[in-house]
Amino acid sequence: MKLLLLGSGGREHALAWKIAQSPKIERLFIAPGNAGTASVGENVAIAADDFAGIARFVRENGVDMVMVGPEDPLVKGIYDYFLAHEDVKHIPVIGPSKAGAVLEGSKDFAKAFMSRHGIPTAAYRTFDGTQVEEGCAFLATLQPPYVLKADGLCAGKGVLILPTLEEAQRELREMLGGMFGTASSRVVVEEFLSGIECSVFVITDGTNYKILPEAKDYKRIGEGDTGLNTGGMGSVSPVPFATPEWLARVDREIIRPTVEGLKQEGIVYKGFIFFGLINCEGNPKVIEYNCRMGDPETESVMLRIKSDLVDLFEGVAAEDLETRSIAFDERAAVCVMCVSGGYPQTYEKGFAVTDTDIEGSVVFHAGTTLKDGQVVTDGGRVIAVSSYGATRQEALKKSMEGAERIRFEKKYFRRDIGFDLDL
Ligand code: AMP
Ligand code: GLY
Repeated sequence: MKLLLLGSGGREHALAWKIAQSPKIERLFIAPGNAGTASVGENVAIAADDFAGIARFVRENGVDMVMVGPEDPLVKGIYDYFLAHEDVKHIPVIGPSKAGAVLEGSKDFAKAFMSRHGIPTAAYRTFDGTQVEEGCAFLATLQPPYVLKADGLCAGKGVLILPTLEEAQRELREMLGGMFGTASSRVVVEEFLSGIECSVFVITDGTNYKILPEAKDYKRIGEGDTGLNTGGMGSVSPVPFATPEWLARVDREIIRPTVEGLKQEGIVYKGFIFFGLINCEGNPKVIEYNCRMGDPETESVMLRIKSDLVDLFEGVAAEDLETRSIAFDERAAVCVMCVSGGYPQTYEKGFAVTDTDIEGSVVFHAGTTLKDGQVVTDGGRVIAVSSYGATRQEALKKSMEGAERIRFEKKYFRRDIGFDLDL
């Protein structure tokens, strides 16, 4: 089969690496891809949200399946676009419909959906620009810290956690006044939950689903989980507190009601669901849904899937996922992200990246490009070093040594990925 994968980050390199191992794959295209994806498939210079360009490429090259990596094309409705165009409507798009992607595209929708289906999550209320005073009054009824979430997509920057009521009320006024443009024209105010987080992923055909290996990501730039939020500085899988009993509860209380709820509401969802969970005194609750795989979780999770990922995609397309199987690698897998100095604030691009052949690890490119035949930095997150180990500690040691060896100017990485799991 010929498969077109959309996206250009570390997640997409990890997906491409796994997809390319399938005996079913004759050609793998990645649009637009990065310098790393070019080593496992053929990069195509089309933006992931250029639907007309993608459809044309699919037609002209006899592509049999489209797999969508990032949320943007999903939230903009690529699934529906294909169905609405006669010449490509028979080509399966792996990813939810526009209505399904709203689980990630609107925090208010996600909260209301969870409340309709009895799915455990933080208590909340949503306010719009006409309800600023009501919102401030509601904040005064909560205990600190205060959690404010812009309703729409904000590239991971739309959540604020404020220590005092005064700051929370001031920020709420600013958000509703247009701080994040239309994304914050509505704001979800919710109860703060304390606990340790874990990401759980499923792939679903709309009725059946398979649970993938869980992972934990490390979002802050600084060691000890300090400093600014980033796209993610590393990940580990498995997660020790995600025991079989805990995961069985997640399945029963969260995953099944979500998949069944989508179906009941007539929302077409054939792709990945990412459950951002928090373990509150042993009880799993949902912090957020995403309509795609996580990044950098995918750079660990793909290492732990032994089965053919493309077979699962075919099960999604044929809606017979219950007949397919998924097997996990029992080893631990981790990833350590090397980032550009200055990230997540301002940083420079275009530095040469060398020494990326790390024996015993799998190196995934996140923000790189080819310039005159040379790999150069092209983003904040540059390269993920993923490794297996008999234990998490062993895998981490390999990834740290690898991250040390990779060379580009102003490289930075966290040396404490996984630290909280040993405490
Ligand atoms: P989100 O963009 O929804 O993933 O939120 C970003 C991060 O904010 C999450 O990964 C959590 O660490 C934190 N967060 C979001 N909601 C809450 C909450 N209700 N209580 C505590 N932390 C939260
Ligand atoms: N690692 C979190 C995310 O992909 O949103």
